[in-house]
Amino acid sequence: MSDHGQAVYTASKDFIAAAHVDAAAYDRMYAASVADPEAFWAEQGKRIDWITPYTLVKNTDFTLGQVSIKWFEDGVLNVAANCVDRHLATRANQTAIIWEPDHPATPARHITYAQLHDGVCRMANVLKAQGVKKGDRVVMYLPMIPEAAFAMLACARIGAIHSIVFAGFSPDALANRINDSAAKVVITADFAPRGGKKTGLKANTDAALLHCSDRVKCLVVKHTGDQTTWIDGRDIDLKAEMAAASADCPAEPMGAEDPLFILYTSGSTGKPKGVVHTSGGYLVYAAMTHQITFDYQEGDVFWCTADVGWVTGHSYIIYGPLANGATTVMFEGVPTFPDASRFWQVCDKHKVTQFYTAPTAIRSLMGMGKEWVEKCDLSSLRLLGSVGEPINPEAWHWYNETVGKGRCPIVDTFWQTETGGHLITPLPGAIPQKPGSATKPFFGVKPIVLDPATAQIQQATETDGVLCIADSWPGQMRTLWGDHARFEEAYFSQYPGYYFTGDGCRRDADGYYWITGRVDDVINVSGHRMGTAEVESALVAHAQVAEAAVVGYPHDIKGQGIYAYVTLMNGVEPTDALRKELEGWVRTEIGPIAKPDLIQWAPGLPKTRSGKIMRRILRKIAENDFGALGDTSTLADPSVVDDLIANRMNRG
Ligand code: PRX
Repeated sequence: MSDHGQAVYTASKDFIAAAHVDAAAYDRMYAASVADPEAFWAEQGKRIDWITPYTLVKNTDFTLGQVSIKWFEDGVLNVAANCVDRHLATRANQTAIIWEPDHPATPARHITYAQLHDGVCRMANVLKAQGVKKGDRVVMYLPMIPEAAFAMLACARIGAIHSIVFAGFSPDALANRINDSAAKVVITADFAPRGGKKTGLKANTDAALLHCSDRVKCLVVKHTGDQTTWIDGRDIDLKAEMAAASADCPAEPMGAEDPLFILYTSGSTGKPKGVVHTSGGYLVYAAMTHQITFDYQEGDVFWCTADVGWVTGHSYIIYGPLANGATTVMFEGVPTFPDASRFWQVCDKHKVTQFYTAPTAIRSLMGMGKEWVEKCDLSSLRLLGSVGEPINPEAWHWYNETVGKGRCPIVDTFWQTETGGHLITPLPGAIPQKPGSATKPFFGVKPIVLDPATAQIQQATETDGVLCIADSWPGQMRTLWGDHARFEEAYFSQYPGYYFTGDGCRRDADGYYWITGRVDDVINVSGHRMGTAEVESALVAHAQVAEAAVVGYPHDIKGQGIYAYVTLMNGVEPTDALRKELEGWVRTEIGPIAKPDLIQWAPGLPKTRSGKIMRRILRKIAENDFGALGDTSTLADPSVVDDLIANRMNRG
């Protein structure tokens, strides 16, 4: 098996022998999963406990105009009971969550399943006391603290729908999400310590709530204990209420298709989309992928470094691991605080067996030298994972050799907020890895590659094009909150009959998939999705900006950086001070992750005669690859291109 001389890496014989799935099992199970999805998932659905077992398994339709996705639809379950209660008989004293704080001098916490049950029930009772009922929305804006896990599971326990807003987002972004989901309650903390600094989450929440209904209640975790403002009647001390609440709270029976959570994510157009995941199928899929992709075995300590504000944190810090009765690490800090060995010290301290992070973190740590890794004992590690963006071979090799010492398979997991869990990924005991390839589809996933121009399915094994999925899998999103028409439009209208991922890919002669990145106007900055339209609308909201166009460009550490072309209002001087001001403006409008890396003053933007901005040209200039701009004859004023090239900001 070779790919243009590319090396192929296989797990050790011992790893393969002990793995949940080996090569023969993968082939057999994959074939069965696509030949008879009903039978396959009927069996896999038994991984979790049902209050009323399902008799119906798959009821899905990708036909444009009537897209409908239902799995296990007549089954009744409770997600929190599956993640907590069902383990109590055998694992009450086993650690469920290891909480590692921002500062290594602060003691870590080991929360057993019994303690998790206590925290979840108490918080659920606090929510109920605030009038939260089945189907109500609860927004969370929290640091990476155990209360975030309690809150998610407390919602699941009483049937409320949680929507987590990443703590790096601005008050405006928070307000928009509270309003779009019409949340009854927001749960926040006084401050979020991160990398030795503190973000005032309560202050941000206060600012957000100025734009929300005054009926929204604010539950505050006093985490650092620093002073915050307090509005009596609206603000509630969550820890104090939990201490006083009953530790007994029955789990609400939920339909498999009742929503579990909403998670807002960037699209190519318009405001962020509220991706909706439901209870049964999502949990089955999160649990199965967690167990099989990471080869989770009894006694393992699993660490996913993501934040619970992203889907990775939902599926692989909380729901997947806890459904499997695992021990999961929750880390409040950053990889470089107090120094660049923090990740490896945490692995060493807690004897982590599976470590799952993003290529951007690997690249930045790689740049700091291997001595930071080498001073830690990483002998507990047996598998490494990567997620969020393509991993470049150089980073892959460093990860493999310096961190994994050549002993640990690397699972390069391709998936999305919309997919609930892994779509294309190596299974470590079954699928040999090629650095940079997400390899093969997970069970039940039917990838197809289409020609972007003709929408024809590419039949040849070796091909490239846009990546679609031909049939549903249980972890798939069901709709966009409050806007099913936009859901169909965003995912099923480009290539009718198929789910469109928004990514391009190549399939090699061995049938391996290589994700080449987004083909829409979404950029991937440090593994985080950013819609260019969102950054543009933030920029044009500034009084001195007339017009803005935003594109991605290759960035050594972040994968892609944000490149903004800005046309100022007539008579406004382009100065460095204004550039700084605009950077700060976008930070406040959206959050630090949206701050443009480069801002170029553009006296004009390349437009067609009908006024459409030619982004292809802007992308090329941002990539410093303006030799091949293609046809510019349709431009209204071709001379603007010369100016943009002459004053380009990326000359790397
Ligand atoms: O472009 C793909 C990229 O991240 C996008 C999904 O982003 P998000 O919904 O924020 O979820 C990130 C974590 C699941 C995809 O459309 N992406 C994700 N994983 C990979 C990837 N690109 C290449 N390789 C991956 N392993």
